[in-house]
Amino acid sequence: MSKNTLTITDNRTGKSYEIPIQDGTIRALDLRQIKASDDDFGLMTYDPALTNTASCKSRITFIDGDKGILNYRGYPIEQLAEQSNYLETAYLILHGELPSKAEYDSWTYNITHHTIVHENVKELMGAFRYDAHPMGMLISTVAALSTFYPSAKDVHDPKARRDQIFRLIAKLPTLAAFAHRHSVGMPYAYPDNDLSYCGNFLNMMFKMTETKYKVDPVLEKALEVLFILHADHEQNCSTSAMRGVGSSEVDPYSAAAAAIAALYGPLHGGANEMVLRMLEEIGSKDKIPAFIKEVKTSGGEVRLMGFGHRVYKNYDPRAKIIKKMADQVFQVTKRNPLLDIALELERIALEDEYFVKRRLYPNVDFYSGLIYQATGFPVDMFPVLFAIPRVSGWLAQWDEMMQDNEQKIARPRQVYTGSARRDYVPVPARG
Ligand code: ACO
Repeated sequence: MSKNTLTITDNRTGKSYEIPIQDGTIRALDLRQIKASDDDFGLMTYDPALTNTASCKSRITFIDGDKGILNYRGYPIEQLAEQSNYLETAYLILHGELPSKAEYDSWTYNITHHTIVHENVKELMGAFRYDAHPMGMLISTVAALSTFYPSAKDVHDPKARRDQIFRLIAKLPTLAAFAHRHSVGMPYAYPDNDLSYCGNFLNMMFKMTETKYKVDPVLEKALEVLFILHADHEQNCSTSAMRGVGSSEVDPYSAAAAAIAALYGPLHGGANEMVLRMLEEIGSKDKIPAFIKEVKTSGGEVRLMGFGHRVYKNYDPRAKIIKKMADQVFQVTKRNPLLDIALELERIALEDEYFVKRRLYPNVDFYSGLIYQATGFPVDMFPVLFAIPRVSGWLAQWDEMMQDNEQKIARPRQVYTGSARRDYVPVPARG
């Protein structure tokens, strides 16, 4: 009869151990009993970049990378993108269920009424250089918010946690838009509570001298969809940063600032910015073969940005939705000339053995930047546009962790490969 256990024989000692298997995993700590001698520390696993280690149990997001499936709380991303909006999806991610009408109204009211930031935050932003990258400004100002809300330290109080969740989701678009307007030398536009979450963000970004900003419904819907697609993605680099930093029980503003910093990197949320820069650098379709050759011969140094994913080894389902939506957006904006280069780049790459063999397909970032650019967002703002919706995912993961009795402060182990103990040598005696 089959058993849900793993038997390990240690060939150093000849001893056998039976270890339980649960949810397709073994507990790393169960290996600690495997010792070569009594004073041995016990066996550990070595897993750089945690590519095969589950660090938590989570009920939020399900991904099947081989099949190209992404579900939030069981709901397929395709259905949410088509039928939901960002705030409702954020509620779902955080609470586990879709809201009733009354719950949705109360949730929207609470988010809408926390959008304004303290005037001192504006002054803080004014201290940045005119060309400061908005991600740097966002990291700093989100961290600074912790100084305005001391109750955020009460991470074990569900009400205090909920208040910071309202504030962070509500204030991120305001901080993001202010960062942009600082860089272009425009006065900050204040939130307009008559507008939707995404409509208000467009208002704060692009309002000029008109008394009431008119939101284009196609662009508003496109932003809703992009925000839904970016809302959570289980244990990625920035979410791991949120959980890792949050595990020290620091306030969620400080943990979110760390998550935004992780997202800033070009291998993560910075990739959509890098895709645009790459397409601009390629410049025309006839230069694509030479670029592909460079990627293939660079030994991994030059990458086709927006391609490949740690988890999706099929097509990224989010990329499919975005590619379809690009057509609708380009009907109201003018067609982004870089789209032709992107389409041709994708076509060539998907037929090339190098990419096929390594299962490299377009990811969420490959087409999102083209839509953002056509909408009028400067390239520097692309990673910021990723951070705004992802904050709901980070907060849901953080809130889940705070209620998980199995979690402790994150503290990985290492394999020490440095020098053996030796004695200090004074300078004159060193060779
Ligand atoms: N272009 C060219 N080659 C690539 C690419 C790429 N975009 N991605 C991976 N490869 C190659 C690697 O050089 C490696 O080749 P090798 O086996 O000959 O050494 C092989 O494919 C496997 O690559 P890894 O880096 O081991 O794959 P990993 O799963 O660790 O990396 C990652 C995933 C970081 C996303 C990678 O594919 C990448 O750098 N892509 C470009 C950046 C990007 O688009 N990031 C956005 C990710 S999605 C997100 O964060 C929302």
